[in-house]
Amino acid sequence: MRTTPRCAGRPVYIRSLATYVPPRVLTNRDLEKMVDTTDEWILQRTGIRERHIVDPGVATSDLAKEAGLEAIRRAGLTPDDIGVIVVGTVTPDMMFPSTACLVQHKIGAHHAWGFDVSAACSAFTYALTAGSQLVAAGCHEHALVIGADVMSSIIDYTDRSTCVLFGDGAGAVVVSAAAAGEPSIIDFEHEIDGSGGPALCMPAGGSLRPPSRETVEQRMHYVKQDGQTVFKFAVRKTEEIARRIMERNRIKPEDLALFVSHQANRRIIQAAAEKLGVDQGKVIINIERFGNTTAATIPLALNDAINEGRLKKGDLVLLCSVGAGFTVGSVLLRWGY
Ligand code: UT7
Repeated sequence: MRTTPRCAGRPVYIRSLATYVPPRVLTNRDLEKMVDTTDEWILQRTGIRERHIVDPGVATSDLAKEAGLEAIRRAGLTPDDIGVIVVGTVTPDMMFPSTACLVQHKIGAHHAWGFDVSAACSAFTYALTAGSQLVAAGCHEHALVIGADVMSSIIDYTDRSTCVLFGDGAGAVVVSAAAAGEPSIIDFEHEIDGSGGPALCMPAGGSLRPPSRETVEQRMHYVKQDGQTVFKFAVRKTEEIARRIMERNRIKPEDLALFVSHQANRRIIQAAAEKLGVDQGKVIINIERFGNTTAATIPLALNDAINEGRLKKGDLVLLCSVGAGFTVGSVLLRWGY
């Protein structure tokens, strides 16, 4: 097992953060009118009360643009300062061009290149690693890292087992070089396990099953999930990856100021935190208001932590994610501002 941090190069830090959710809210009560479900079941089994949903015609790049522009403004920079844009998403505006290209054009980042990261619910931790390591290597001064998803575009609102879970949203951070001795990103640990693919996927629309009348009729362009398999994997792997990165960096759960897990289910987060021995007071859970926004949950949770005064410069923060793939991610950092 690796004993030294994976982060290489110069120290880098999250310099700013901003989020955006569309204004329209879909409550559990609304869903009661659409499928055979209840507010009580959803709240008890998932912790979700409501989620934000885009209006027709609003795409992932639109949410990403709002969050991205605000993150750049809060960093005290302009779009022209950004060298690379990394967008984590499982709901790109279209198969191609990449959402990063669309965002680059929409925000006017004239000197940036960029690309999308497809890692489902681990997209933010993976995109953060990709973007931050490009800055750490000295390739760029500033990276714009975005997690954004319009999950409502791939959700079957006749399937009660999935439609209650997801929402739309975006979060963005600017990653820049850190001054010597200042807080920075410490380490990352990621892992994939493709054997879990069938447990959570959108079966059609790609090269294996291109769109056809048959795939549409069979509702194969929607999220399909074996909830219990994913649930068990998520609890086990969140604990495992968190333990691995903390042990490597000689950090104990009590050293953490904040544990920010992907928000898929309140019970997953609480179970993983309990197994890890992380005090529940250090756990951020905001799934109640947003549902599972896939690539956007971690920045949305960080944003709430900041607004609630629970995150300050120098705090030790552990980000963890588990998602379709399966993908597993973790990033350990000291909060930079
Ligand atoms: O972010 C990507 C990763 N995704 C996840 O991490 C999600 C992981 N999985 C989960 O969070 C949970 O498995 C779910 C929330 C999806 C489901 O909770 P569960 O406790 O595993 O429920 P279940 O699938 O075992 O279903 C229990 C019962 C079933 O009825 P029977 O067979 O016991 O009669 C379901 O049909 O609940 C029923 N059910 C519902 N009832 C009311 C399933 N969905 C609903 C619903 N409303 N929306």
